[in-house]
Amino acid sequence: PLVPMTEFLPRAKKEGFAVGQFNMNNLEFTQAIIEAAIEERSPLIFGASEGAIRYMGLNNVVALAKVAAEESGLPVALHLDHGSSFEMVMKCIRAGFSSVMFDGSHYPLEENIRLTKKVVEAAHAVGVSVEGELGTIGGVEDDLNVAEEDAMLAKPEEAIRFWEETQVDAMAIAVGTAHGMYKGEPKIRFDIIEKVSKNIEAPIVLHGGSGVPDESIRKSIALGVGKINVNTENQVACTNVIRDILGAKPEVIDPRKYLGPARDAIKEVIKQKMRLFGSSGKA
Ligand code: G3H
Ligand code: ZN
Repeated sequence: PLVPMTEFLPRAKKEGFAVGQFNMNNLEFTQAIIEAAIEERSPLIFGASEGAIRYMGLNNVVALAKVAAEESGLPVALHLDHGSSFEMVMKCIRAGFSSVMFDGSHYPLEENIRLTKKVVEAAHAVGVSVEGELGTIGGVEDDLNVAEEDAMLAKPEEAIRFWEETQVDAMAIAVGTAHGMYKGEPKIRFDIIEKVSKNIEAPIVLHGGSGVPDESIRKSIALGVGKINVNTENQVACTNVIRDILGAKPEVIDPRKYLGPARDAIKEVIKQKMRLFGSSGKA
């Protein structure tokens, strides 16, 4: 069955590894993600954004994640990514999600705390884990689009207070990464990660994990990051393969002929990430 992130995140923070959240975009992504986890013996978080839920259908998302969890026997969480409202959170919990993110980062601090607390109360009552967010992460992801000049780093004191009041199970803070592809190398504020992590129990979540240099990932984990979200790198791997195949062989018409190799490419990216995050062998 699907499990809340609390099944593995406390241990991740204690032992110094991170569990990857890989976003489901379609059937092939779902298969690539679970196959990577099986081969790596890694705990796993399926991310489903509101855009992906609209695309795939809520019940399809839950059904695919449940089959993956049952067949693999691994600790697998199905997590709403960047949930935008209490209503959406409740809809996902009722459909079978084991974990939710409530992204109130665009609200003023007090309002973000108030709304997140409400989500935590409802979710924890039914054994569902919660991720909250503070500060604004730049870049583009589905419905979210934040210009670089509007991206705002999290203030450590506010993040600590946010956690104390909300008791979220995972704490996303803006520390300099961005959603989507980077134009240059991200400048990660390791000092913010360190200060917040030392003062709260929950692990820090790093959004925009694509394109972050391996060294920065390792350092972030050592300082208290316990969950890392990756989507764009998988999408790039998938689309590059499809583009190459269709370009080289215009006669191909069977979707399996390009979606199969695309799935293999996604799986390879994820396996590399699991090794980098140190979650391989932890299931
Ligand atoms: O919430 C999802 C992630 O933060 C994905 O970011 O597409 O830059 O890897 P990414
Ligand atoms: Zn994100």
